[in-house]
Amino acid sequence: CLQIATNVTEQKHHVSRAKRGQILGHLRGFRGCTVWLTGLSGAGKTSIAFELEAYLVSHGIPAYGLDGDNMRTGLNKDLGFSKEGREENIRRVAEVAKLFADAGQVCLCSFVSPFAEDRDVARRIHRDSDLPFFEVFIDTPLHVCEERDTKGLYQKARQGVIKGFTGIDQPYEIPENPQLVVKTVKATIEESTMQVVEMLQENGIIP
Ligand code: PPS
Ligand code: MG
Repeated sequence: CLQIATNVTEQKHHVSRAKRGQILGHLRGFRGCTVWLTGLSGAGKTSIAFELEAYLVSHGIPAYGLDGDNMRTGLNKDLGFSKEGREENIRRVAEVAKLFADAGQVCLCSFVSPFAEDRDVARRIHRDSDLPFFEVFIDTPLHVCEERDTKGLYQKARQGVIKGFTGIDQPYEIPENPQLVVKTVKATIEESTMQVVEMLQENGIIP
């Protein structure tokens, strides 16, 4: 039932990014980009992304968080956690993130995204459209994530109830060249979030 689309051509918008930027937020200007948070389950991706979303919005900067758990109950509910399932999950999410970024949002993506080539696809999708893409490694050691076990998933993975769990019986490929590494051990969510804020300031995304 799923086929490759043929006879489709790109249709150009009539609104430029600069024009779009004029109506966005009270700090006018186009600052669309994607911040991609990758790391183990329980590393702190969602906490940091949603804290950052609240910070940016409260400072007049349009931002929107796309989160693994949320996307997988909606757009991507037909996908599992095999290598192929994750690849397609990340590809679709990256395409959605590109649209949010193109619309002028700071798009915050919090996905395990354990495979380097999938993260590279996400980056390429943005770069091809001249949209900034920041890979942020939420660097929390496996044993800490497992101690936290906020959702009880590590216990189930250890018991073999969940198969293909990242860090247990599926790999996590550590980012080789991330824009930022956030170490969450001994840091509060607010402190970790401010590290990402500073990165966005240094890159001229936010004042
Ligand atoms: S991926 O790898 O990027 O496609 O995963 P993602 O879309 O971020 O979904 C991760 C969340 O799904 C839950 N979950 C699992 N994570 C990893 N491996 C397996 N097998 C798995 N099964 C379910 C879990 O709640 C993840 O959320 P976080 O916030 O990372 O803990
Ligand atoms: Mg999460």
